[in-house]
Amino acid sequence: MLSYQRDTYCGLIRKEMAGQTVHLSGWVQRTRDLGGVVFVWLRDREGLVQLVFDTAVCSQEVFDLGRSLRGEYVLTVVGTVRLRDEGAINRELATGEVEVFVEQAELLNKSETPPIYIDDKADENELVRLKYRYLDLRRPSMQQKLRLRSKVVSCIRYALDEAGFTEVETPILSKSTPEGARDFLVPSRLHPGTFYALPQSPQIYKQLLMLAGFDKYYQIARCFRDEDNRADRQPEFTQCDIEMSFIDEENIYSVVENVFARVFREIKGVELPLPLPRMTWIDAMENYGSDKPDTRFEMKLKNLSDSVRGCGFVVFDGALEAGGRVEAINAKGLAGMTRKEIDSYAEFVKTYRAKGLPYMTFTADGNVKSSFNKFMTEELVETVRREMNAEPGDIVFFAADKKSVVWQALGALRCEIARRHELIDHAKYNLFWVTEFPLFEYSEEEERYVAAHHPFTSWYPEDNQYLDTDKEKVRSRAYDLVMNGIELASGSIRIHRSDMQAQMFEMIGLSQEEAQHRFGFLLNAFKYGAPPHGGLAFGIDRLVMLLTDSDSLRDIIAFPKATSANCLMMETPADVRPDQLETLKIKVELPEENA
Ligand code: AMO
Ligand code: AMP
Repeated sequence: MLSYQRDTYCGLIRKEMAGQTVHLSGWVQRTRDLGGVVFVWLRDREGLVQLVFDTAVCSQEVFDLGRSLRGEYVLTVVGTVRLRDEGAINRELATGEVEVFVEQAELLNKSETPPIYIDDKADENELVRLKYRYLDLRRPSMQQKLRLRSKVVSCIRYALDEAGFTEVETPILSKSTPEGARDFLVPSRLHPGTFYALPQSPQIYKQLLMLAGFDKYYQIARCFRDEDNRADRQPEFTQCDIEMSFIDEENIYSVVENVFARVFREIKGVELPLPLPRMTWIDAMENYGSDKPDTRFEMKLKNLSDSVRGCGFVVFDGALEAGGRVEAINAKGLAGMTRKEIDSYAEFVKTYRAKGLPYMTFTADGNVKSSFNKFMTEELVETVRREMNAEPGDIVFFAADKKSVVWQALGALRCEIARRHELIDHAKYNLFWVTEFPLFEYSEEEERYVAAHHPFTSWYPEDNQYLDTDKEKVRSRAYDLVMNGIELASGSIRIHRSDMQAQMFEMIGLSQEEAQHRFGFLLNAFKYGAPPHGGLAFGIDRLVMLLTDSDSLRDIIAFPKATSANCLMMETPADVRPDQLETLKIKVELPEENA
C-alpha cells in the first residue's frame, strides 16, 4: 500500500525536475485512453499535471487501474518526471513541458459524476455552484481567491501588529448596536423571553476597550446584519475593526494607509501613492452624485439650475420652482446610441425615483435634437453646449428633481453608461478618503433626523451653531475610504463625553429613558475618564472582491449566502425540533401564506 503523503504538488512540477521520482496525490481531472497508453490529468491545489500509464513502465495492474479512472476519483501515484517531446508540449499548462510516468498507483476513493464541471471555463449556473459549493471550491479560480484572501488577512495582521495594535475578541452574543440594519436575534434559554443580538459591528465594545486603556485595538471581526442581500452585501461578513485613543483623523488615515499600502504591495505588486487623496462629501455629491464615487472615468455632474432657470421647458421650470435642481451629465461621443438604449436608461433612472430622463443629442453632423424639442429654444441649446462643453457626437442627459433624486439618478446613470460602454479602466485602483460627511440624515421612513454614520460620531465644533437651526449643515468627523465606486471603510472620531453623547441621543429623538435603557452602560462608562478616541472598520470581503476583480462577494466567501440570505448547500435557515422551541418558550405563528 502506498502512503497518501505526497512529496510535491502536481501543479509545481517543472522541467528542471526531469528524472526525479515524485509522489503525487489529488483528483482526476480527465482521462484519455489511447489503447496502449492512458493519459490522466491529476489536479491538486497548485494545478494539473499529466500522468502517463504505460505498460513499458508500470505493471498491468497499475495500467488497468489507470484505465478505470473517472473524473474526480482520488488517486495517489509514484512516478518519474520526464520531458515531453517538443511537439507534445502544452503551452496552456504551467506543467505543460513535463509528464509523470506512473510506476505505482493506488485508488483512494471513487466519485460519482459531479453535477458541475470542475473547470474555470465551464459557465455553470450559480445556484448549482452554491448547492455543491465543496465541488465549486475545487475550481482553480476559487482556490486562488480564497488563498489570496488568507494572504490579505495575514498581511493586515502583520501590519497592525507591527504598528503596536492588540487584537481583542469581542462577544458574538451581544446587544443591539445601531449600525442601521436589522439585528439577528438569538433567544435565551436561561432567561426566557429575552434575546441576544448578534453584533452588527463591535462598535461599542471597541469604544469600551479604549476606556479600558488598550489604546490601539483591532479585530478581524465577524458582523451580522439582517438586510437585503446585494452583490456587495452579505448578511454575515468580516470587518477589520480598528480603534485608537488620543488621536485625530490624521493618525487614523496614516495607520490605515500603511495597512492598505502593504496589502497592495504584497498582493498586487502595486505601490499606492501615499498619502491617499481626499475629497469632501459635498464635492463627491456635487461632482459624482455619490458618496462613493467611481473616479476611474469622468462624466461628472454639472448643476445647471442657474443657467436654465426660466428656460420654458416645463420639466426644468417645475423642478426649480419646487426648490429642486436641474443637473446634467455629458456622455462624450455616445450620441450614436440607439433609441432603445436611451429608453432603457430612462427605465433605469426610475429605480432612483427620477420621473423621466430628458436628453439632448449633438449629432455628428452638427444638428441638435432633444426629447423635448417643443421647448428647445436656441438659447437653451447654447447654454447646454457651453455649460456641458458639448461637441458634435455627445449626448447630454438631464435630471430635474429634488437634490437627492438628481444626485442618485445621475450618479447611478453615469456608472451604468460607463459600464455598458466599457469606459472603465479595470487596471486602476482609485483609492481615496471621503471626508466631512453630514452628521444627520433625514429619514423619510421615520420622519425624523437620524445619525448618518452612527450616533457615537462627533462633529466639528464650529458647526455647533447649526445644531438646532439647520441640521443638514452640521458636518460630522466621519470618513470613508472609497475604491472604484465601492465603500471599503467607514469610521469616525467619536464622542467621548457623556453630556455630548446624551445630547446626540436627544437630537436623534431618542428619549432619555430609551437612551438609558439601550445605552445606559455606555453613558455610565463615559463618566469614568473616557479618552478621546476614534477608528474605523473596513470590509475584508469587499477588499478581496476588488483585489480579485470579482463581481460578487459570493465569489470570495467560502460558504456565502444566496440572495435571499439562505445557504443552498446546508439549507439554512431551517426549522428546529418542537422540543427546542419548547425549551426556549417560543411559539411560532406563521401567517397563512407561509404556513
Ligand atoms: P460600516 O457599517 O460602514 O461601519 O461598516 C464598515 C465596512 O464594513 C463593510 N460592510 C459590509 N461588507 C459586506 N456585507 C455587508 N452587509 C457590509 N456592511 C458593511 C463595508 C463597510 O465600509 N462600526 C462602524 C465602523 C466604525 O465607525 O469604526 C461600522 O461598522 O466595507
Ligand atoms: P414629454 O413631454 O412627456 O414627451 O417628455 C419630454 C422629456 O422630458 C422626456 O425625455 C421625459 O423623459 C422627460 N420628462 C417628462 N416628465 C418628466 C419629469 N417629471 N421629470 C423629469 N423628466 C421628465
